[in-house]
Order: sequence, then C-alpha cells, then structure tokens
Amino acid sequence: MTISECKLVDLPGSADDRGKLAFVEPPSTIPFEIRRVYYLFDIPSGKERGAHGHRDLQQLMIAVSGSFSVVLDDGKECKTFRLSKPDQGLYISKMIWRDLKDFSEDAVCLVLASERYAEDDYFRSYDEFYREATP
Ligand code: TYD
Repeated sequence: MTISECKLVDLPGSADDRGKLAFVEPPSTIPFEIRRVYYLFDIPSGKERGAHGHRDLQQLMIAVSGSFSVVLDDGKECKTFRLSKPDQGLYISKMIWRDLKDFSEDAVCLVLASERYAEDDYFRSYDEFYREATP
C-alpha cells in the first residue's frame, strides 16, 4: 500500500435553511464496510495522538468539529493533511503510519473503521512498521 491511495473525500449530503447534513455510505464514499466507530475529543492543547500503523485496518477520519493535522507515512513518503471540514473525510488505507497533531481546542476526530478493535493489528513501533512496509 502506498500513500497515493490515501485521499481526501468530499462527502455527499444536503444543505438548506435548516443547516447541513453529510453522510458516508459504502461503497460509493469509502471502499470498506464500517465495523466500528470511535472519536477523539477533549484533546489538551499541544497533545499528539496516533503514532501507530495498522496491518489491515482501513479508516475514514473526519473533523466533525474544529481542526487537526494528520501526517501519513507509508515508509517511503510522508504527506500532511489538515482536516477542518465536517463534510470531508481522509481515507487511510492499510499499512500506513499516522501521527495526529495540532488539534484545535474544539476538535472532534470521528473515525469510521473497517474492522473491530484488535491490538494485534497495530504497529506500535515505527521500526517494526518500517521493516514490514519496505521489504
Ligand atoms: P489508540 O488507538 O492508541 O489511540 P489513538 O489512535 O487515538 O492515539 O487507543 C488508545 C486506547 O484506547 C488503547 O488502550 C486502545 C483503546 N481502544 C479501544 O479499546 N478500542 C478502540 O476502538 C480504540 C480506537 C482504542
């Protein structure tokens, strides 16, 4: 997997004088079925999250409130995305290391995930990730 597969996705939705709505419905918006949803919130100023990779997990990350930066790394190349729009998601393929940082005070990071939580799917060590990502 390479970083070129990780992309910002404009989410479909509707907008009228009552406000806006965005939705995610596989397979047109994301190439996986959603098996888990979690979100990060109340992140203290200056704190960072992530710092791991996944063997099989695919995700869509959405800044449903506020903004934050996501640095993606496939072992060869890094790319930084600033998420700030509730109607835009960042698709992250498998075998990508991610660091999340520069959270605004009101940031909420919603994550739609392709698998249930499994600690053995994580790379917690960058060296181990790098070895498997660049055989
Ligand atoms: P972690 O994935 O390291 O957080 P982040 O990506 O935001 O830095 O998870 C933090 C803790 O929460 C860790 O002990 C595992 C636990 N956790 C679950 O139990 N279920 C989940 O779905 C997630 C994402 C984490």
